[in-house]
Amino acid sequence: MTKSAFRKTVPIGSGEFILRVPDVSDADAIHAFALGLPNHDLLYMRRDISKRPVVDAWLESVAKSESLALLAEKEGDLIGMSGLMLDRKSWSPHVGEIRVLIGAGARGNGLGRVMIQETFAQAVAQGIEKIIAQMTLDQSAARAVFQELGFQQEALLRDHVRDRNGEDHDIVIMSCDVAGAAARMAASR
Ligand SMILES: CC(C)(COP(=O)(O)OP(=O)(O)OC[C@H]1O[C@@H](n2cnc3c(N)ncnc32)[C@H](O)[C@@H]1OP(=O)(O)O)[C@@H](O)C(=O)NCCC(=O)NCCS
Repeated sequence: MTKSAFRKTVPIGSGEFILRVPDVSDADAIHAFALGLPNHDLLYMRRDISKRPVVDAWLESVAKSESLALLAEKEGDLIGMSGLMLDRKSWSPHVGEIRVLIGAGARGNGLGRVMIQETFAQAVAQGIEKIIAQMTLDQSAARAVFQELGFQQEALLRDHVRDRNGEDHDIVIMSCDVAGAAARMAASR
């Protein structure tokens, strides 16, 4: 998919940012963005994007439409990204796993909500019926934003991820039914 495949200017507060689909040329910027985040913010992700080959593999999967992704840029700087992992060859072809990461300096302005809503729109277009999101139990901001958008806790996995210091953390899995949530989001826009 090329950079021109999807591009949208979104006003937020007194400024605006660009939402677009990434391509392989964005690997350096994405890797640098991941390295600038607190390690704890990466813990819930199934793949560790602080490792460059993992970023390359992710962008290849986006290029092959095996997963969906969006970047948010402000004045050319990457300030957020979101993704929807799909597994069409599994027994859960109707399920997508959403991830969203907003840079520390860009949080609290509504960007996370917008990126989740846009990723939702992508999921609807792909015929996805159920979306799950995972996060560590202490990511209260993430739990709040997903709850507000209609997600409910579905599972708690004890000591499921181990950080670089060897400490284990619980993972919460939240989920929502796409049709119901899409209708609620459309009504609130
Ligand atoms: C979770 C995350 C994506 C939220 O992004 P954000 O841009 O700061 O969120 P928004 O500004 O869009 O907030 C939307 C709503 O979420 C809730 N919220 C956001 N941050 C919150 C916080 N720290 N405490 C309580 N509620 C919060 C509020 O209801 C907020 O609405 P309001 O601003 O109208 O009150 C961001 O904190 C992040 O990247 N965290 C690290 C990675 C992560 O945990 N990702 C989620 C796993 S998929």
